[in-house]
Amino acid sequence: MSQATTNVMQSALKLFYAPIEDELKRAEQTLISELRNESPFVNELLEYGGQLGGKRLRPALLLLTAKAAGEVTPSHYTLAAVVEMIHTATLVHDDVLDEAAMRRHLATVNARWNNETSVLLGDYLFTHAFYLASTLETTFGCRRIGQSTNIVCEGELRQIGNRGNHALSEAEYFEIIDGKTAELCACACHLGAHYANADDAVVASMERYGRLLGMAFQIADDLLDLLGDESQTGKSLGTDLDKQKPTLPIIHTYQTLDGNERQEFVGLLESEDLQRHVAILEWVNRCQGLEYARKTAIEFTEQAREQLNCLKPSACRDVLSDITEFVVARSL
Ligand code: IPE
Ligand code: IPE
Ligand code: MG
Ligand code: MG
Ligand code: MG
Repeated sequence: MSQATTNVMQSALKLFYAPIEDELKRAEQTLISELRNESPFVNELLEYGGQLGGKRLRPALLLLTAKAAGEVTPSHYTLAAVVEMIHTATLVHDDVLDEAAMRRHLATVNARWNNETSVLLGDYLFTHAFYLASTLETTFGCRRIGQSTNIVCEGELRQIGNRGNHALSEAEYFEIIDGKTAELCACACHLGAHYANADDAVVASMERYGRLLGMAFQIADDLLDLLGDESQTGKSLGTDLDKQKPTLPIIHTYQTLDGNERQEFVGLLESEDLQRHVAILEWVNRCQGLEYARKTAIEFTEQAREQLNCLKPSACRDVLSDITEFVVARSL
C-alpha cells in the first residue's frame, strides 16, 4: 500500500476526531502531565512508550460516546487518559509475548531496551492508571477499569494457552478477542456514557456498541497481521503465525479442510520454513478464509451501528457510526 493510502487513513481519523478535537487535546495533556518522572531514564521510557503515537481510539471512543449521550465532564478527561494508559501497558507487554520488534513506527521497548524494562514499564503504566482512576469522585470508574483490565489479561492468557491449538473453535476465538480487545473498547464507551449521566438503557447500548466495534477491530487487526504492510501499521506483523496463535482466517480454513488436506495445512502451520507464509495463504485463499473473516467483521460492525439508534442525531453519533467502517477498512 502507498504513502497516499496512509495519508487518506490518517486524514479520515482526523476528520472523525474533529467533533472532539478540544476534548482529545485536554485528555492528551492529562496523559502527558501524568506521565512525567524526575529520573531521566524513567522519563525517557514514559515518553517513548507512554506518550508517542497511536491512534488514540479508546480515548476517542470514550469522549465521543460522552458527547453523543450527554456532556463531557472533567472526569472524562481523566478516564480518557486512564484507558489509553491501560491500552499502552497491554501493548508494551504484548510485544514481549509476541517478540515484536516494531510498535507505533518505533523499535518496541523490548527490542530497544529489553524484556525487563518492558515488564516494568507496563507495570508502571497499569498502576499509574489505577492510581489516576482512584482520584475520581466516585469509585465506579476505577472498579470498571479494574474488572476490564483483568478480563484483558484473561484474554491474553487464554490466547497463549491456545498456542498451537489448531482445532480452536470459532466460538472460543470470539471469547478470546472479546476479552483481550473488545472488553477495553466496551469499557471506554460504557464509562463515556455513564459519566455523561445517560439513561441506563443508553449506557448499556454504548457498552454493547464498544464491544461489537472491538470485535470487528480485532478481526481486522488479525487480517492485517496476515496481509498488512509494516510501513503502514508501524508494528511488526506476522507474529500470529509465528507464535501459532489461531485467528479467524486460519480457523475457518482448518474447519473447511478435512482428511489429508487438513493434515497438510497443519504441517505448514507447524513448519519452521520461513517461506511457509505464502503456502499457508494459498490454502486460506482456497477456503475463502480472508473473505469469511472480512464478512464476519462487517457483521459485527452492522450490529454495532444498531446500538446507536437510541442516541439523538449529532455529529458525534455520525462519527461513532462511520468509525465502524474505518475499523474494518483500515490499513493502520
Ligand atoms: C493495537 O491497538 C492492539 C490491538 C488491540 C489490536 P491499536 O491499533 O489501537 O494501537 P495504537 O494505539 O493505534 O498503537
Ligand atoms: C493484542 O493483540 C491485543 C492486546 C490486548 C494487547 P495483537 O497481538 O494482535 O496486537 P498487535 O497486533 O500486536 O497490536
Ligand atoms: Mg501483538
Ligand atoms: Mg498479541
Ligand atoms: Mg495483531
